[in-house]
Amino acid sequence: MLHGKKILLIVSGGIAAYKSLDLIRRLREHGAVISCVLTEAACKFITPLSITSLSGQKAYSDLFSLTDENEMGHIELSRQSDLILVAPATANILAKMASGICDDLATTVLMATNKPVMVAPSMNVRMWKHMAMISNTKKLRDRGIVFVGPETGDMACGEYGPGRMTEPLELVGAIYKHFDSNNPLEGKKALVTSGPTHEPIDPVRYISNRSSGKQGHAIAAALNQFGAETVLVTGPTNEPDPPGVKVKRVESAREMLDACRESLPVDIAVCAAAVTDWCPSEPCEQKIKKNGKAPAVQLTKNPDILRELAKDCNNRPHLVIGFAAETGDVVKKAIPKLEDKGCDWILANDVSRGTKTFGGDQNTIYFINGDLVEAWPEMTKINVGNLLAERIAKQFKEELKNG
Ligand code: CTP
Repeated sequence: MLHGKKILLIVSGGIAAYKSLDLIRRLREHGAVISCVLTEAACKFITPLSITSLSGQKAYSDLFSLTDENEMGHIELSRQSDLILVAPATANILAKMASGICDDLATTVLMATNKPVMVAPSMNVRMWKHMAMISNTKKLRDRGIVFVGPETGDMACGEYGPGRMTEPLELVGAIYKHFDSNNPLEGKKALVTSGPTHEPIDPVRYISNRSSGKQGHAIAAALNQFGAETVLVTGPTNEPDPPGVKVKRVESAREMLDACRESLPVDIAVCAAAVTDWCPSEPCEQKIKKNGKAPAVQLTKNPDILRELAKDCNNRPHLVIGFAAETGDVVKKAIPKLEDKGCDWILANDVSRGTKTFGGDQNTIYFINGDLVEAWPEMTKINVGNLLAERIAKQFKEELKNG
């Protein structure tokens, strides 16, 4: 998808500099051609040699190197790329960029360029929240510099908050979006299920689960941002409606299945709902009084919405994607669900107590597509949505290319 795109990666001197090695690998996997500039401080964390080995290109760091200037002048370096990415971008380099200081190769290139610039900040939370940083960030954004992150989480210094550099995989998603801002899923229709379902015992009580709907809603938002006409069928949640998405609210699994069927045909179906597996066989029409002995609630299995959609002979969406919520042995337990449910991809996650998946903002996914099992690093549910949308767009583009 990034085939032939030239990206100049500027690595500044932060603890996250090591992530730039993985970033280079990932970008090259997507077909991008990477040149690198390291600041002097970056060379304290990683070596030009490791960068060169991974990028397959010479890494530059010295503004006054005669050899480098002969081979590739700094002006040429600043102009030859389709995008300049600063990752990690420390408070220092962002401050220099905001003030127009150019006292080394990296900052000189950034001053001389006429190309789009994207930055992935990485710094201590207090530095990120400092007034100077806030004003620098505003200046840079006003000049059209694109910020990706920082993410919230534990910091290398032991503090917690926003300041972590966005993970390489997510950065690839952001770069992909930058180049494909012309809505790569335009003309496609998507259906997403989200949230839990409520299965009534009587008019007051129900059976349900801990799902918050955050992940499903984030996927619907991302698909819509990628240009797909998106319908979100959601069980009861506190999540706001994603802008631009058609939302159908339901209570029970039965209602969810009906709403999904009514939304067909679609090109993409993503079943992220935590559908309650059983429902009371005969819900009471009146509130059950507790003056007698405790009632025995007879349960019936609910329809499997994912399976129904994937095995629908008349109206099967072109791409059907499920989730697998597992506790322990996640991949091993998730793989059989691909065949059992008839879906194309599975996103498996660990929902053991303590993983903070239910209700939390973060998710750790294993992306399973046939024999391919990819461990995505922990990231926000929003970024899982973006990355999944990016994969979906890539799939459609490849299919188009291969006829
Ligand atoms: N799913 C569904 N309808 C159901 C149950 C599950 O659409 N009645 C979908 C979920 O949205 C998810 C996938 O099936 O995409 C897997 O759900 P999961 O809860 O992991 O598995 P189950 O099928 O419920 O099986 P088990 O609970 O035994 O692991």
